[in-house]
Amino acid sequence: MAFFGFQHVEDFVKTDKVKDLFSRVTNSYDVMNDVMSLGVHRLWKNYFIKKMLIKPGDSIVDMASGTGDIAQGVMEQYRFLNLHIMAMDLTESMLLSGKHKAIDKGIIHGIDYTVCDAENLPLPDDSVDVYTCAYGMRNVGNLEKALNEAHRVLKKDGRFYCLEFSAVENAYLKPVYDFYSFQFIPTFGKYIANDAPAYQYLVESIRKFPSQESFKSMLETAGFHNVTFENLSCGITAIHSGKK
Ligand SMILES: C[S@@+](CC[C@H](N)C(=O)[O-])C[C@H]1O[C@@H](n2cnc3c(N)ncnc32)[C@H](O)[C@@H]1O
Repeated sequence: MAFFGFQHVEDFVKTDKVKDLFSRVTNSYDVMNDVMSLGVHRLWKNYFIKKMLIKPGDSIVDMASGTGDIAQGVMEQYRFLNLHIMAMDLTESMLLSGKHKAIDKGIIHGIDYTVCDAENLPLPDDSVDVYTCAYGMRNVGNLEKALNEAHRVLKKDGRFYCLEFSAVENAYLKPVYDFYSFQFIPTFGKYIANDAPAYQYLVESIRKFPSQESFKSMLETAGFHNVTFENLSCGITAIHSGKK
């Protein structure tokens, strides 16, 4: 069983609901990210990309790639390294939007696009150098399965990087953050995306995602080593990394 927001549902039901949700909000997805975070998500993503160890010729999975901020950012940041990025996502419209955005930025080569589920990747064992996932793990139907798949497809010493909303660790910030999340974000969703429930899901799903320490343990259980995490903005978001 999984949580779709605060609702307890079967794993496959969560996956279907998540796919439907992201199909509905694709067109307003980028604008909503800027509005909700006052642009700060761009700083988190840039920091995440700069923190990665990327080597010449790396093959990289950008899981839950969505509209492609990470895939495109990696391509721009490490443009002379001859990378092969596989942007993967459950929701076709999100990937398509990402593809158009990449073309608008002049990124024509180096990224290919695959619609698939993080729990079942169309890739051989030990075939990928880097696996990244930004704000995707919270949405998968079965988190353990997705982590096992990430581990399976990575080569030995392959690098895993995850950026995800996490548990706020500052006692003063937490009530303010909770108030803002529950009172404002669904309202922004209502007026900007015409979809308050999608953004109610967002705030609820953040509360249901494992804490920093619990997610670290899950990564270790999936077989990763050297697992560490770093909080950004007092834990509003966190970066977990590890090695196969
Ligand atoms: C919040 S968006 C993140 C997009 C992008 N990585 C970013 O940081 O802006 C979450 C994405 O996860 C995708 N997703 C949800 N469940 C998935 C799954 N089981 N497998 C692959 N992608 C999934 C959704 O379709 C959506 O595009």
